[in-house]
Amino acid sequence: MIQTEYKNLMIAIEGSTCFITINRADKLNALNKSTLNELHHAITMALREESIFAIVLTGSGTKSFVAGADISEFSNYDAEEGKALASEGQSKVFDVIHNAHKPIIAAVNGYALGGGLELALACHIRVASKTAKLGLPEVSLGLIPGYGGTQRLTQLIGRGLAMEFILTGEMISADRAYELGLVNHVVAPEELMKKTNELLDTIKSKSPKAVAGAIKAINASQSNSGYETEIEEFSKRFGTDEFKEGVGAFLEKRKPDFNKK
Ligand code: COA
Repeated sequence: MIQTEYKNLMIAIEGSTCFITINRADKLNALNKSTLNELHHAITMALREESIFAIVLTGSGTKSFVAGADISEFSNYDAEEGKALASEGQSKVFDVIHNAHKPIIAAVNGYALGGGLELALACHIRVASKTAKLGLPEVSLGLIPGYGGTQRLTQLIGRGLAMEFILTGEMISADRAYELGLVNHVVAPEELMKKTNELLDTIKSKSPKAVAGAIKAINASQSNSGYETEIEEFSKRFGTDEFKEGVGAFLEKRKPDFNKK
């Protein structure tokens, strides 16, 4: 039996699909530690449960999928704590999703920023609502993506486009994300779950063992050591003057000034 009671998640089982909704709408579903722990638990359970064929991840409310890692939680971290944040998150959640033997689809219903976009990137397929906004704004905080974003985005859209996307930190529309190949489909907000379910219905009609084998083989084409480099570079940013300025500016609701002396 799957546990369905969580503080920061809502779980719904419909047929053989487990819908996991990140439920911190007042914080735009930002990923705090407790949400990440719950995600680890819920996803691991759903992967073990025989009656579940697929998982859908989405965010509660209409505004946000996930607006990133919870900035207020890591604002005082040093390099070591930053390293633990990235490596624990990657091994407990992002890699578990990436390597899952059952299909996992991100239904991107709004802002997918920073760790939120990285969560969608770890999923096997992304379906976005037309109103979604996507970005990796970490450089504005004096950081870089730390949950696999530099690797998975580059693999998905190519080095040049990933460079521009990550170095500018700009948000893009769902339609632009579709043009870049960052999302598989863009649909009207009210069609998001319909389209996701249609895709899953097709996949469910195929051989489950072949589906699992295909996911494994596709993932094998992308293995490299870049994830460790990312964790190194991510953790080195913590505690620096630029990090303090970037994160401080967000928490104080002002624009960062990285050139001040
Ligand atoms: N971490 C922690 N809290 C966050 C958050 C995050 N990543 N993203 C949003 N929130 C919180 C805000 O602090 C605010 O909380 P408050 O009401 O207690 O002040 C609440 O969610 C609503 O966000 P707000 O900024 O008021 O909404 P908005 O519509 O003005 O702006 C965004 C929406 C997404 C543009 C803006 O919230 C934002 O830039 N978020 C951070 C994105 C980011 O840098 N993510 C990468 C993190 S590594």
